[in-house]
Amino acid sequence: MNPKPDETTGLFDEQFRRDPHAYWSNLRAQSPVAWSERLDAWLVMSHSAALTALHDKRLTMDVYSAFRPSPIPVRSSFEMEPEENAQFRRAVAPHLRTIARDTRQVEAVALALARQIDDSRQWDLAADFAEPLAHRLVRHWLGLTPDSHLQLLHLLDKADQVEDPSYRAAAGEIATELLLTEIVTARNSGSQTLLARLARAWPEWGGKDADLAAFVSPMTFSLVKGIGTRLLVHSVAALCLQPALQRVVQDGGFNLAERVAEEASRWEPVQQAIPRRASNHMELEGRHVARGERLLIVLSAVCRDPAQHPEPHRFDPFRTEPSLAFGHGSHGCLGGGLATAATAVALVVLLRTVRGPLRPAQLPSDVPQVGLGLAYTSLWLQARTSA
Ligand code: HEM
Repeated sequence: MNPKPDETTGLFDEQFRRDPHAYWSNLRAQSPVAWSERLDAWLVMSHSAALTALHDKRLTMDVYSAFRPSPIPVRSSFEMEPEENAQFRRAVAPHLRTIARDTRQVEAVALALARQIDDSRQWDLAADFAEPLAHRLVRHWLGLTPDSHLQLLHLLDKADQVEDPSYRAAAGEIATELLLTEIVTARNSGSQTLLARLARAWPEWGGKDADLAAFVSPMTFSLVKGIGTRLLVHSVAALCLQPALQRVVQDGGFNLAERVAEEASRWEPVQQAIPRRASNHMELEGRHVARGERLLIVLSAVCRDPAQHPEPHRFDPFRTEPSLAFGHGSHGCLGGGLATAATAVALVVLLRTVRGPLRPAQLPSDVPQVGLGLAYTSLWLQARTSA
């Protein structure tokens, strides 16, 4: 088979890192599906091609066995057979909806943290507010003690980071054991935490505790460290560009803040790509995808496709068109509602507690991490002025 020419010249170079969205706009205009030698994958950049791909049963999720949402040695929902996955989704969804509706805890924790912010100096929204908020909420939702939570974080970190593979594996095994113990304790506790509810509901659909551990583990790992925290940070980054909107959200409350969080998820997707693999030869937007080849649905590009999102670079919380920031179809995100609701509550509390308007203390070019789109792993805000 002849090697395909690489169509992603300039990917990750300096110009890309300064403005990845301009890069994707140009590439999408040439071809909505393009081959990247560097990423060894077809990159899908238009909304319509992404939607087609997310519903095409020939595109499998086996890439997730090598790239799980958390480093424990247990299959995630992405690796379940379709019928089992559908049962898993039916079991989890109502409980996530229930805790998403109960915003009192988010409000209380956010208020306690916001009051502690020392805004007489520059402060980092991620480290001083968003990360501790996410950790405390997850601890509450799962009903973990501070000690077992810390131990879990430590083990997952080792299972992910340590160089020695046998050490990594051992840390993953111990983390799994700890989670399984927490599940049994929660099931017998009679409490109403998310974990206790799920642990009691689990046997009803024939789910194994290991599958519940695989669902819970990312909540203490990637969903907190990375994407969950970042949704709030990206929402504030967007509001920093429109100080007038901060006042509107402050006055408008939860419903408007939820729209801001939803628009932030589109404007700068925190999960930048969705991976798939072709189980058979297929065509996508006129491109021939061979069996075994990988696809990356580049959400950072898809969510700014002008064919779906008019004026895609404009942050507009009043948009009505749906985005694919939380995926779609049989594996679409189960926690999107919870993430946007928690972000919205935190935004309102923050804007009502810290004297605004919030202004960035860093240049857009100082955005700390890029990947396939911008990723604000920190957001330094200016000290309060006395005015
Ligand atoms: C900003 C926060 C979040 C973002 C951007 C996000 C994004 C996504 C995306 C794009 C997918 C689809 C992946 C694919 O099709 O390959 C997904 C799936 C999933 N998400 Fe989220 N997610 C977020 C928060 C959460 C939270 C808080 C939870 C749980 C509490 C959660 C649980 C899940 C699960 C279980 C799946 C897989 C469902 C299945 O296999 O059927 N997510 N998420």
